[in-house]
Amino acid sequence: MSMTPRSLTILGATGSVGQSTLDLVRHSNGAFCVAAVTANSSVKKLAAIAREFNARDAVIADASKYEALKSALADTDTNVSAGPEALVEAAQAPSDIVMAAIVGAAGLRPTMAAVRRGATVALANKECLVCAGDLLMEEVKRHGATLLPVDSEHNAIFQVFEAENAKSVSRLVLTASGGPFRNTATEELFSVTPEQAVAHPNWDMGAKISVDSATMMNKGLEVIEAYYLFPVEKNQIDVVVHPQSVIHSMVDYVDGSTLAQLGSPDMRVPIASCLAWPNRMHTPAERLDLQKIARLDFEAPDLVKFRCLKLAMDALQVGGAAPVILNAANEIAVEAFLTKKIGFMDIAETVEQSLTACDMKAPQSLANVFEQDNEARRITHDVIARLRKS
Ligand SMILES: NC(=O)c1ccc[n+]([C@@H]2O[C@H](COP(=O)([O-])OP(=O)(O)OC[C@H]3O[C@@H](n4cnc5c(N)ncnc54)[C@H](OP(=O)(O)O)[C@@H]3O)[C@@H](O)[C@H]2O)c1
Repeated sequence: MSMTPRSLTILGATGSVGQSTLDLVRHSNGAFCVAAVTANSSVKKLAAIAREFNARDAVIADASKYEALKSALADTDTNVSAGPEALVEAAQAPSDIVMAAIVGAAGLRPTMAAVRRGATVALANKECLVCAGDLLMEEVKRHGATLLPVDSEHNAIFQVFEAENAKSVSRLVLTASGGPFRNTATEELFSVTPEQAVAHPNWDMGAKISVDSATMMNKGLEVIEAYYLFPVEKNQIDVVVHPQSVIHSMVDYVDGSTLAQLGSPDMRVPIASCLAWPNRMHTPAERLDLQKIARLDFEAPDLVKFRCLKLAMDALQVGGAAPVILNAANEIAVEAFLTKKIGFMDIAETVEQSLTACDMKAPQSLANVFEQDNEARRITHDVIARLRKS
């Protein structure tokens, strides 16, 4: 008996998570098809994806690229559109699963649109939970949407979190690889290059999240993300450095049991878990060979060397607008580092100074989040200009 394929909307189809998702569609023997794909400005890549998967819609966020995309897909049936509103429309259009894999706060509006149509949303875009965790989770409830965590740590927790025993959870433990500079002396971090920072030892990811992993801001964003995804208190989330990235995270229960999910460091595993949920699907990911791995190491994170992790954990404790400011400042600082305007250690300095300089109350609406995000970005640019002069 042939089954109707489940259709996917892939927001951020040209990125690392987007590509891994598409790879699973290729290997799914027709279990999935692609309804809509989006990108920011990568016209050629997006056109090739739309063509290969015969997508219904292809959307480019950068409106100046509309003609280029239109002509690249002129001989196909794909509907082409452009601009931020078109991105939202793509998220609203029917499909069985929305993969939210845009990087940064830019993903918030389309992700929210998908949630508001009650969609099943596989959420990779952690920044949108960091910026608008309360608002997004309220909308998930209100519209009966299903949120499935793609981030490997949160997906691991999702797989071992016994919802019926939520009150018996004593702690979530997020594992962190420690990134490429785990063993690098702090003095040497002042001179590391973007090329060194994006070379992650275990995971192959987009540039922004790779830098976030190198500063360990990524783990900090994930602590905030975990707080919104799971019914735990802020002080029930811990981080342990585990360089092999085999255990993807753990849940401690009151009886002394710790449940963990293990797997090779390949994003296709957590993505497949979301696509097939509540079932399982085959993936081409490497199988875990514990005899070959032989040992698993664990250590406490160094919150002095990796100041960004501490800043993010503090932002969660402070609450209000702090996570919005933290995220906006970090996005601007990472971009400035990648374009060699500031050094690696300036990222934490920029974020800290921006948090001090911004005086804002907790956001009350999505519009409020965007205002605060814009204002925090403006202040961060000033902070960077001052840092560059000094
Ligand atoms: N990569 C991983 O292994 C991984 C793991 C866990 C979680 N995540 C999270 O997943 C998200 C995506 O990460 P990634 O590594 O896949 O990023 P990436 O490789 O940089 O891809 C980002 C995607 O978003 C699009 N995009 C960028 N800016 C945009 C904008 N302003 N408006 C609309 N679209 C925009 C990009 O389009 P263009 O190609 O046109 O620029 C691309 O399709 C991030 O939030 C990240 O933290 C990633």
